[in-house]
Amino acid sequence: MSRLLLVNGPNLGILGRREPEVYGTDTLTDIKEAVAKEVAGRGWEVVSVQHNGEGELVDAIEAHYDTVGAIVNPGALMMAGWSLRDALASYPRPWIEVHLSNVWARESFRHESVLAPLATGLVVGLGALGYRLAAQALLAKVPA
Ligand code: DQA
Repeated sequence: MSRLLLVNGPNLGILGRREPEVYGTDTLTDIKEAVAKEVAGRGWEVVSVQHNGEGELVDAIEAHYDTVGAIVNPGALMMAGWSLRDALASYPRPWIEVHLSNVWARESFRHESVLAPLATGLVVGLGALGYRLAAQALLAKVPA
């Protein structure tokens, strides 16, 4: 069965409890289930990984080159996660960068993403819905 990779970076394992006024109340489990529902019709399963450490995220990406595409919320690694950036440069399939919050409406240190130039596309500021929209984008981008 084809698998879609869902990658979440540091501090996203506590979604639901983390600053809910900024990131919403959905947990990572809720998000994984929503993405899984979105892609089930195509016969895709979701592999969900979350790590606080950049090295583990790099390992996870290297271990999943056989997935059909990826949804990546890098958390704060968007700003300076150079080894994550390089791992994604070698990831052979389309991937979408997602941020729950509108990073450009927030502090200026969140305005730069070192990953964005490599992404197939970005979804920003739409909360947990953004992951479902990213899944729909991958359904459209990945040939049947
Ligand atoms: C985030 C935005 C980042 O700036 C922040 O460091 C996060 C979450 C988001 O989903 O809105 O950890 O990626």
